[in-house]
Amino acid sequence: MKKWPITTIVLVAIILVLAGALIGTLLYVRNQPPPTRGVTPLITVAAQEPDSATWGLNFPNEYSTYLQTTSNNTRTAYGGSEPYSKLEADPRLVQLFAGYSFSKDYNEERGHGNSLTDVRATQRVNDKTPGTCYSCKSSDNPRLWSALGMVEFDKTPFATLGERIINPIGCANCHEANTMQLIVTNPALEASLEAQGKDWRTFTRQEMRTVVCGNCHVEYYFQGEGKLLVFPWAGGTRIEDIAAYYEGIKFSDWTHPNSNAPMIKIQHPEFEMFTASSTHFAAGVACADCHMPYTRDSAAKYSTHNVRSPLLNASVACGACHPDVEYATARVAAIQAQVRTTMDAAEEALVAAIQAIHTSAALPSADVAHLEEARRLHREAQLRWDFVAAENSLGFHNPEEALRILAAATDLARQAQVAALQAAAPASAPTP
Ligand code: HEC
Ligand code: HEC
Ligand code: HEC
Ligand code: HEC
Repeated sequence: MKKWPITTIVLVAIILVLAGALIGTLLYVRNQPPPTRGVTPLITVAAQEPDSATWGLNFPNEYSTYLQTTSNNTRTAYGGSEPYSKLEADPRLVQLFAGYSFSKDYNEERGHGNSLTDVRATQRVNDKTPGTCYSCKSSDNPRLWSALGMVEFDKTPFATLGERIINPIGCANCHEANTMQLIVTNPALEASLEAQGKDWRTFTRQEMRTVVCGNCHVEYYFQGEGKLLVFPWAGGTRIEDIAAYYEGIKFSDWTHPNSNAPMIKIQHPEFEMFTASSTHFAAGVACADCHMPYTRDSAAKYSTHNVRSPLLNASVACGACHPDVEYATARVAAIQAQVRTTMDAAEEALVAAIQAIHTSAALPSADVAHLEEARRLHREAQLRWDFVAAENSLGFHNPEEALRILAAATDLARQAQVAALQAAAPASAPTP
C-alpha cells in the first residue's frame, strides 16, 4: 500500500481542524458568542444569583460602572437622572391624570441602582398594590419567578413579596450566570414573544442588545384579579394595535372623574417606540449601542454598565458612529424641542376636551350618544398622547412616529371637544 507523505497527513489534519472550528463558530454565533473581553472569571456564580456584588468579583469593570447608576443625578434638557416632579414641571398632567395616582406623584426616572428605593418611596404604592409592581425592579425576581411562578409572584401583595426582595436591578435581570449571555428573564416578555411566534433563543446577539431592555422598558397592564403582568402586544406593538387590544378587552386603568371616560395609563414604551421602524432600529442599531457604549480602561474594553442619558456621554455614545458629535446632539435638541411643542398642543386639546365634556354632561338636556362618543374620543386621544409622553426620550427614539402619534392625539382630542359641544346642543348636531 502506498504510504501518504507525512506533510499531506499534517495538511489534511490542519484543514479538518480549521473547518471544524469554522462550522462550530458559525453554529455558535447564530446566537451569542461568549464574551471574551476582560479578566478570567475568579468564581463560579450561582444560577440567577441576585447579588450583583458576587458577579462583580469576576467583572469589576461592569460592576463598578453599574454602581455609578445609583449616584447619577445630572439633569438634561428633557431627561437625565434628577428625579424632579413631572407634575410640577407640567401642571397640565394633574388635570390629565385626575382621579389616578399619577396625578399625585410622578417623577422623572433615574438609574437602575435606585429602582428598589424609588418604587418603595412612590406614593403610587398602597396596601392594594400587587407584587406585580416589583416585576421590573429587582434582580431577586428571576429566582422568585422560578420558585413561585409568575402567577403567584403577581398576586402576592406588594408588602409581603417585598420581604423577599432586597436587591435593585442587577446582573441577573439581563445575563445568564457564567456564560454571561443576554437572556429574557421576565416571563411576560417570553410569553409575548412566543405569542408572536418568536423564540428569543434564536435571536442574534445584536437583536438581544435591544430585546434585553424589553424585559422592562415596555407598555404593560395587570390582567384580572390576580393582577398578572401582560404586554398588550397580541395584535402588534404599534400604538394603534395596542389601543385596539385594550378596546377589544374593554380594559381601563381608571375612570376620569371630569370626563367620565374609561382611561388607559401608558407606561414606558421605549421598546415599542424604538422598534416601530425608527431610523436607528432600521439601520441595525441597538439600545445598548447608545446607552451602554464600549469603553476603554487602559487594556480592557467593555460595555459601560452606567446606563443613563447618552447626552451625558455623547462623544462615546454617539461618536462611535457619528464623527460629528456636535451635529448629532444638536439634532437631538431640535427633535426634542419640536416634539415638546407638538406635545403641548396635544395637552391643550386634551384639557379643552375634558372641560367641554364636563360642562356638557352637567346639562340635564345633554345628548347621551354624543357624550359617549366624546368620552371614547377622550380615551383614544389621551392614550396616544401618553404613548409619547411616557416614552422617556421625548421623541428622539423615533421622531417621525412620535410626531405622527401626537398629531393623531390632537385631532382626536379636538373631535372629542366637538362631540361634547354637540352633546350640549343636540338639536343642531348630526348623530355620531
Ligand atoms: C441612537 C441612540 C439611542 C438608541 C438606539 C436608544 N436610545 Fe434611549 N435615548 C437616547 C437619547 C439621545 C435619549 C434622550 C436623553 C435625554 O433626553 O437626556 C434617550 C433616552 C432614553 C431614556 C430616558 C433617559 C433619561 O435620561 O431620562 C430611556 C429610559 C431610554 N432612552 C431607553 C432606551 C431603550 C430601552 C432603547 C431600546 C429599545 C433605547 N433607549 C435606544 C438615545 C438612544
Ligand atoms: C440592563 C441589562 C444589564 C444588566 C443589569 C447588566 N448587564 Fe452586563 N451587559 C448587558 C449588555 C446589553 C451587554 C452587551 C452584550 C453584548 O454585546 O453581547 C453586557 C455585557 C456584559 C459583559 C460582556 C463584556 C462587555 O462588557 O461587553 C459582561 C462581563 C457583563 N455584561 C457583566 C455584567 C455584570 C457583572 C453585571 C452586574 C453588575 C451586569 N453585566 C449587568 C446588559 C446588562
Ligand atoms: C429589570 C428591568 C429593567 C431592565 C432589564 C432594563 N431597565 Fe432600564 N430602567 C428600569 C427601571 C425600573 C428604571 C427606573 C429606575 C428608577 O427611576 O429608580 C430604569 C431606568 C433606565 C434609564 C434612565 C437612567 C437615568 O439615569 O435616568 C435608562 C437610560 C435605561 N433604564 C435604559 C435601559 C437600557 C438601555 C436597557 C437594556 C440594556 C435597560 N434599561 C434594561 C428597568 C429596567
Ligand atoms: C451604532 C451606530 C450608531 C450610534 C451609536 C448612533 N447612531 Fe445615529 N445613526 C446611525 C445610522 C446608521 C443612522 C442612519 C442614517 C445614516 O446612515 O447616516 C443614524 C442616523 C442618525 C440621525 C438622523 C436621523 C434621521 O431620522 O435622519 C441622527 C440625528 C442621529 N443618528 C443621532 C444620533 C445620536 C444623538 C446618537 C447618540 C445618542 C447616535 N445617533 C448614535 C448610527 C448610529
